[in-house]
This record gives sequence, structure tokens and C-alpha cells, in this order.
Amino acid sequence: MKNKILVVGGAGYIGSHMAKMLACDKQDVVILDNLSTDFRHLAKYGELIVGDLNDTHCLENLFSTHAFNGIIHFAANSLVGESMTNPAKYYRNNVSGTLNLLDVMLRHNVKNLIFSSTAATFGEPEYTPIDEKHPQNPINTYGTSKLMVEKILQDYVTAYGLNSVCLRYFNACGADPEGELGECHDPETHLIPLILQAASGKRKAITVFGRDYPTEDGTCIRDYIHR
Ligand SMILES: NC(=O)c1ccc[n+]([C@@H]2O[C@H](COP(=O)([O-])OP(=O)(O)OC[C@H]3O[C@@H](n4cnc5c(N)ncnc54)[C@H](O)[C@@H]3O)[C@@H](O)[C@H]2O)c1
Repeated sequence: MKNKILVVGGAGYIGSHMAKMLACDKQDVVILDNLSTDFRHLAKYGELIVGDLNDTHCLENLFSTHAFNGIIHFAANSLVGESMTNPAKYYRNNVSGTLNLLDVMLRHNVKNLIFSSTAATFGEPEYTPIDEKHPQNPINTYGTSKLMVEKILQDYVTAYGLNSVCLRYFNACGADPEGELGECHDPETHLIPLILQAASGKRKAITVFGRDYPTEDGTCIRDYIHR
């Protein structure tokens, strides 16, 4: 069966891979992205609508002209440091933007949503490996903004019959094996691209912080999720 899927944030790293996967699976893909990260070239699978989640008029137009079966929502600001110095930006974009999307979805009776949450909702691990039952105590505004959306979704499921799934990714890594898409952030804050930039001479060095973790050499361990 062919579904019409809206990929919000489909010009981003993970969203562009998802759009390609859906298009290759012969699904009908529409991408909504405000191109705030400036990677239009990543939105090569599906129809690109340039627009912002906070623009209700744009969302209304989009949902009035397309009958979506479901939404996969990747759009967010996700720089942890910036989220602490400019929390308003994170609550407005990540929380308020998602509320706008939910309002329009419900008005148009679209009830299926996959939401990109984050492992940052867990905060400092109380035990490892972290599982889904691990307490969620985010230690930065980015994680809090995602946890707020998770809570909103729980209430919307109960009250409005929304079907939603929250995916709490750890650090995503990897690239499209055909070499068309890959990880691209500017500024780059993710470890694997930073290591590759250092190895290829694009940056002088990479610093790994911390020497007193309970590991063999005292350096930290992070979890990654590969495509
Ligand atoms: N990359 C990771 O390691 C990782 C880990 C955990 C969770 N996540 C989450 O997964 C999602 C995707 O991550 P990514 O690395 O692909 O991010 P990304 O920054 O590459 O992509 C996000 C996309 O959303 C768009 N966008 C942002 N705000 C928007 C708005 N208001 N309206 C329309 N478009 C908007 C941006 O222009 C960008 O193209 C994010 O929600 C992020 O929080 C990512």
C-alpha cells in the first residue's frame, strides 16, 4: 500500500535518510523544512515544501492540499550548549512548533506521528545500559524540551486518540551507503564527524574531555546508533 508521509525536518541529517528510505520503498514523501540549517541539497527525495512549524498558515495550507497517512517529525534545534544559553529558542521551536503541528494534525484528522526524541531525556545514567524504564531527568534545556513533547504526546494519546511513538536516539552516526547523503551540521558538534575532520586535516585536533570515568583508560563511553 502506498502511504503519503510528511517528513518534517527532512532536509536534515536523519530526516533526509528517512525520506530516501521511504521514497525507495515507493511511498509518497513530502518534506517540510524551513532550511534553517541550509542543507536544501539533502532534501532530494519527495516534494520539498519550504516552511516553518511555527507558521500555522503554512501548515494549514499543507494539510489542506495533502491527505497524509502519517507524520515523521525530525525538526528541532539540537545544540545542547545553545539550549542552555538560549532556552527560549528551544522551547519555542521544539515544544511550541510541535504543538502547532499537533493542532493542525488533529484538525485534519491525521492521527499517526513518529516523534524524534532523544537519549538526552534520560540525563545522567543511573545504570547502564539505559533501558526504556530508566528515569528521565534531563540535565539540559534541549533534553527538557524533548521530554515536554513526550509528556504532551502521552496526554494527546489519551485525550484525542493520537497514535504516537517517541524514538529516544543516542548519537546517530553513519551515512547513506550510496554516498548521496551524510551527516552534516554547521557548526559540527558530533564526535564522529569531528574525528573524521581531524583525520582528514580539516581541523587541527579533537579533544576528548574527561579522564576520571570508571573505564579502563579513564575516558568516557558514549552510545551510538548506526543507520
Ligand atoms: N543526530 C543525532 O545524533 C540525534 C540524536 C538524538 C536525537 N536527535 C533528534 O533527531 C532529529 C533529527 O536530528 P538531525 O541530526 O537530523 O538534525 P538536523 O539539524 O540535521 O535536522 C533538523 C532539520 O529540521 C529543520 N527544522 C528545524 N526547525 C524547524 C522548524 N521550526 N520548521 C521546519 N523545519 C525545521 C532544520 O532546517 C533541519 O533540516 C532532531 O529532532 C534531533 O533532536 C538527533
